[in-house]
Amino acid sequence: MCGIVGYCGLRQASDILIDGLKRLEYRGYDSAGICVGNSGLLNIVKRKGKIKDLREVVPLEFKGLYGIGHTRWATHGEVNDTNAHPHSDAAGKVAICHNGIIENYESLRAILTKEGIVFRTETDSEVIAHLVSRSYKGDLFEAVREAIGLLKGTYGIVVVHADEPGRIVGARNGSPLVAGIGDDEMFLASDVTAMMAHTKQVLYLEDGEMIDIRPSGYTISDAHNREVEKKIESITWELEQIEKHGYAHYMQKEIHEQPQSVLRAIQGRFNREGATAKLGGLNLTPKELLNIERVKIIAAGTSYHAGMVGAYLLESLARIPASAELASEVRYRNPIVEKNTLYFAVSQSGETADTLYAMRELQRKGATVLGVCNVVGSTIARESDGGVYIHSGPEIAVASTKAFTSQISVFYLFTLLMARTRDLSIEGGLGFVCGLESIPEYIGKALAQKPKIIELAKKYAQAQDFLFLGRGINYPVALEGALKLKEISYIHAEGYSAAEIKHGPIALINEVTPSLFLIPDDHLREKVISNMKEIKARKGPVIAVCVEGDQEVMNIADDYIEVPKVHELFYPYVMVVPLQLFSYYCALELKRNVDQPRNLAKSVTVE
Ligand code: M6R
Repeated sequence: MCGIVGYCGLRQASDILIDGLKRLEYRGYDSAGICVGNSGLLNIVKRKGKIKDLREVVPLEFKGLYGIGHTRWATHGEVNDTNAHPHSDAAGKVAICHNGIIENYESLRAILTKEGIVFRTETDSEVIAHLVSRSYKGDLFEAVREAIGLLKGTYGIVVVHADEPGRIVGARNGSPLVAGIGDDEMFLASDVTAMMAHTKQVLYLEDGEMIDIRPSGYTISDAHNREVEKKIESITWELEQIEKHGYAHYMQKEIHEQPQSVLRAIQGRFNREGATAKLGGLNLTPKELLNIERVKIIAAGTSYHAGMVGAYLLESLARIPASAELASEVRYRNPIVEKNTLYFAVSQSGETADTLYAMRELQRKGATVLGVCNVVGSTIARESDGGVYIHSGPEIAVASTKAFTSQISVFYLFTLLMARTRDLSIEGGLGFVCGLESIPEYIGKALAQKPKIIELAKKYAQAQDFLFLGRGINYPVALEGALKLKEISYIHAEGYSAAEIKHGPIALINEVTPSLFLIPDDHLREKVISNMKEIKARKGPVIAVCVEGDQEVMNIADDYIEVPKVHELFYPYVMVVPLQLFSYYCALELKRNVDQPRNLAKSVTVE
């Protein structure tokens, strides 16, 4: 959620920190600040607003070779300059940046207040600065270690002390922290994007670990204060991938990238001879695959919708009972882990707290949980029992788009694999492979509907409420369309099964509440057309997303968007693209901040 960054080396820290924060801004963007150490002093600047607002108020003489920075997504305390990080102790000797939530901060605050500390902010994080200060006896590492022993909750923290120039101490428990190794310089951050311009050699910290960095090197220790040897990993993607490349917004770029990102998700993952898929990272033998009797998928938001598509596919083609569930609900209902059930944790970021904690709970009960992640080296990717990377490339826009089509691609591949260990014939398998291989081209055709979608966005962007309706494998796509519209345009939107509206939501229908129907030429087409007529009979405006040339649907609907004809199991790909574009252009019409919608953050690392 929040982004943190730290630097120590031979260069001026403030520029590096602010550039790093700019790269992390997608994680949280309500306020930001930096602290730079110089000549025994810590100088702090912080501002409500975006990183560009912070940049404007950093004085030119803000010099120093080490420092820390933070971009905030508020949890405790309103959004203002004071509550922005870094926070310092009373003497201004210690400064900290924190990502996560300190659950026992009220009791710690009470103890510190009794000791005479006057709190300046409403945050949970400020206690950390005072605790470190209280424990400090000349060794920052020891002081931080003692302080975090008192914390309950989650944290990724970076801490500096005025009397120890060039030294930064970091600690991780539940919120990501990664260190970057440069030439006579070191970096710390909540994700690698903050340091990619400077180094690609990184170390991922695990929960319970602490790191002590100086320009000349680092030491890492575990929860028992034993030194840890860690493998240095190389970041494989390029800085160029996180540029906008002429697009107005990251979301627009990411929508248009989907022919390539889907190709990346599937290429090299077919075994033509066996008419099946090869997914090495699953760590499962064909025998183990055959023994799987049930698949359960846990995820949040868009990833949950992708999981629903996956469950539908597995049941319909591989004939394996499968279901998707919101990760946030799994953890707290004491889930029953049945034998021969395979779990998937789906997460673009690989850091979503709800999904991560649910995964850990399932693993504690003996479940095998595979990760479907985008971010390489993310916590879910590392802690899962195996898995598949979706290879979307960095997704920066808060509204997830290309991750969805890549996540479902992994489920198409896994379904093929499972179906071939069961009833699907070689011919059937080859047909499926061909279908999947042609998807990037069909996504390109769906993207070509852009001019029509821009027109529709102009016509409908003023609506107060919207319904998105689909059935079968396209029901989760309807949910996804509604989520996209509400999160970036702030138009109230709900997704339903088209069959379900007569059980209640139809009461909302009037002349100004549009319904968007997904109507592929599948086995449910006639039924969805009937549902559409029920809306028309009540004077509700209707937009239909239908197969090109479907005259019957086009005659009934007020407006339509045509998508290419594909096999009925592949419609989620071509149906979701117009919905992504529609929400994007509605948000533009309403002059919303598309990439950084209000109240949201890209990676939700708190429960
Ligand atoms: O990183 P994850 O895939 O685990 O994120 C899950 C959700 O937070 C995410 O999909 C969210 O719903 C997006 N803002 C949707 O566009």
